[in-house]
Amino acid sequence: MSRPQALLALSMKGGVGKTTTAIGLARALQRRGHRTGLLDVDIHGSALPRALHLARDPGYEPLVGARLRPVNTDGFQIFSIGLLFREETPNMWDGAMKASAVKQIVTTSIAWDEGLEWIVVDTPPTSGDEVQSLLEHLPNIYGCVIVTQPNDLSLLGITKTLNMLREAEAPVCGLLANMAGYTCPHCGQKSNPFDRESVDVERLAEEYEVPYLGQVPPRRSQPG
Ligand SMILES: Nc1ncnc2c1ncn2[C@@H]1O[C@H](COP(=O)(O)OP(=O)(O)OP(=O)(O)O)[C@@H](O)[C@H]1O
Ligand SMILES: [Mg+2]
Repeated sequence: MSRPQALLALSMKGGVGKTTTAIGLARALQRRGHRTGLLDVDIHGSALPRALHLARDPGYEPLVGARLRPVNTDGFQIFSIGLLFREETPNMWDGAMKASAVKQIVTTSIAWDEGLEWIVVDTPPTSGDEVQSLLEHLPNIYGCVIVTQPNDLSLLGITKTLNMLREAEAPVCGLLANMAGYTCPHCGQKSNPFDRESVDVERLAEEYEVPYLGQVPPRRSQPG
């Protein structure tokens, strides 16, 4: 079996749209006819099951032989660490346990379908244990999409993420400026909820010589 290629959504700062972007990337690959999986390694803040309205199947049996069972929904194969725990239960694993769990998950532990072409990985924020273990052990990384909001802290996070990826020699797909504008549902007026502009993200991409992938919502002139 040829190994699926992996695409990662990453950010240093929390809440900028990694999970949303990972789902969007997976849908885009699926629309192009690729057999696609989604993997959530956010151990403390697993969000993928809820974001996909994945109803917890009371009959879900997590093991297939000695491996973990992904679920099939919306035409995707999905494995989320959140499938193993009750949603209300906080995860108290320490760093070593998290690193080891992520290593197992991305190397041997998941019974993905034969023929899966892509795995889009939703990651937790920061450069913590899960992300480091992922960058060290995940085979076949095609590239990393760095997600940001146009705000100062998030832009600082991009620099840190780029430096981390350089250190790990991981390929970078580019920078995506998420939540780059708000349209009032009442009067239709567009505004920027943050203190920086998507053009600042674009400049940072130029400075670091990585692609700028555009903004969400798109500018009128931007291809969808
Ligand atoms: N472009 C967008 N427009 C409107 N809402 C958005 C957009 N992107 C993300 N959101 C919303 O913002 C919230 C945070 O997004 P999301 O969960 O994808 O961020 P995250 O980076 O994965 O967060 P965390 O760091 O906690 O994992 C969610 O409620 C999501 O639905
Ligand atoms: Mg998330």
